[in-house]
Amino acid sequence: MGNTVNTNLNQQNMKYHLTYDDIQLVPQFSKIQSRTHINLNTLVSRRYGLINPIIASPMDTVCGEDMAFKMMQLGGVGCVHRFMSIEDQSTIIKNLRYKIYGEGFGGPFEDWGVMYDDWHADIPYVPIMAAIGVNENDKERAKALVDSGANVLLIDVAHGHHKNVIEMVEWCKANLKSDVDIIAGNIATAEAAIDLERAGADGLRVGIGGGSLCTTRIKTGFGIPNVTSLQNVLNVAKVPVMADGGIRSSGDIAKALALGASNVMLGSLLAGTDEAPGMIIEKPNGLYKRYRGAASLETKLTHGQEARNVEGESTVVPYKGGVKLIVNGLMDGVKSALSYAGATNLKEFRLDYVEVTNAGLNEAKPHLL
Ligand code: XMP
Repeated sequence: MGNTVNTNLNQQNMKYHLTYDDIQLVPQFSKIQSRTHINLNTLVSRRYGLINPIIASPMDTVCGEDMAFKMMQLGGVGCVHRFMSIEDQSTIIKNLRYKIYGEGFGGPFEDWGVMYDDWHADIPYVPIMAAIGVNENDKERAKALVDSGANVLLIDVAHGHHKNVIEMVEWCKANLKSDVDIIAGNIATAEAAIDLERAGADGLRVGIGGGSLCTTRIKTGFGIPNVTSLQNVLNVAKVPVMADGGIRSSGDIAKALALGASNVMLGSLLAGTDEAPGMIIEKPNGLYKRYRGAASLETKLTHGQEARNVEGESTVVPYKGGVKLIVNGLMDGVKSALSYAGATNLKEFRLDYVEVTNAGLNEAKPHLL
């Protein structure tokens, strides 16, 4: 475990290591008459399902209670961030749980048919998801979150192939209720996937240094382009894989899903919406909201952390209005992608791709304007 390196498991033989802009999906014969015949049901983790394959990132300018609730209504899930007290995070989880399941715990999707009336997969449970870290008090946090109704916990750590993460997965599996799924990350290699699965992880979060505000690759030199990271992990993973970071469009979502990811985690695409935490900022040239890296100086200072190990930027993004419009637009694009593949669901959506040159990349964008 840990120090074993089997380079054959990763994409070492590839000439290039690829990210989303380096590839395009290859169109397939299609009989799809209408995109309404396409469903995007998938898994967030081994035992919890989604109607749409999207997860709001546990960043303090992306996912608090409002975002988590709206994402559920939209068939995705929001991972409630951990930059708050255990009590505050647990209260959010209790509120979310109550809005879905009412007083009783553990109801299946069918009991909650109003929002999920188009649910017809064999995946039973609505995920209620929150982030934890790997410190001693995160064990207390994990227990409190589960007592409050969380059923999927994400170990939210920049370098997931770490002894502390492996031990935290093992602790969670040994000490929390057996119906709680644990997602671990972030990782970029096959060895990390094998070690975390062996520890008991029910899902894997993939992507190191590829997020829109990440400075990890610049600061440390470490990271693997997103497509290759996904391939490394998908080569060996037996649990659902989440593509996290660097997703800028429905086309990028489609590429991640076509490679075999079960879902995608979004930060910048959801930041700036009404449901993202934070005030609207008025500037002479328009309205904005703040979006900041979880490891940015601003986030650390806001939460009273030491100004060390800064590996992220902070910025403002244009105010976008309600997140529903954004999610619907993204899912529209993904359904369109499935129709180009002749696929009616995500299981059928496994595709070949071609690598593109810079000329191909330019051609792929509107280039008259
Ligand atoms: P996008 O591209 O969707 O990326 O905005 C969101 C993901 O970026 C990661 N993240 C960070 N990575 N330093 C990093 O190196 C940071 O400060 C930071 N904050 C977020 C995280 O995986 C998130 O889901």
